Amino acid sequence: MSLQEKYPKAAKMWPEADWISDENLREKVLQVWEYALDNSPLTPEDLEEIPFTLLVKDLKVSFMMHKRAVVHVSVAAAKEIKNQFGDELPIDLDILTAAAILVDVGKLLEYDREEGKLVTSETGKVLRHTFSGAGLAMKFDLPPRVVHAIAYHSKEGDMAKRTPEGYILHHVDFMTFEPFKDHLW
Ligand SMILES: [Fe+2]
Repeated sequence: MSLQEKYPKAAKMWPEADWISDENLREKVLQVWEYALDNSPLTPEDLEEIPFTLLVKDLKVSFMMHKRAVVHVSVAAAKEIKNQFGDELPIDLDILTAAAILVDVGKLLEYDREEGKLVTSETGKVLRHTFSGAGLAMKFDLPPRVVHAIAYHSKEGDMAKRTPEGYILHHVDFMTFEPFKDHLW
């Protein structure tokens, strides 16, 4: 059975999963996304429509636009960093791509639907998506370095040491968010 048949929603949303050379890792990434979609009131169509943050008024950048940007910019940055520094700064592109695709998957567990309306779920009330995302990744046995980059991608990670993949993901996530929020233009 192909990955498209096993994980139809996730495979359609994430053609970038094909960039992951390790087949086992690629499958696990899609498995996590399919599970999250199966257990969320949010559909792939919703994710193409809802803004990626509620902190910016009238934002036209959707959740998926932002997630896809994070994957593309992270990988492009990593490749150029590798060009510049070679083996002096080891970066695992498979780990980075997997983590970038999964970075905000925990947000799917932050919602429930009650009487047709989206509400914050019990998980969403007490766990930020960094924790729920890391939990989902561990549930499907993703490598510790992928779990790390998800868990530490936001402010929680500022208290810890990050891997090179974790640093890139953190900075790309913020540099594609903060200029929308606090900009001078
Ligand atoms: Fe995030």
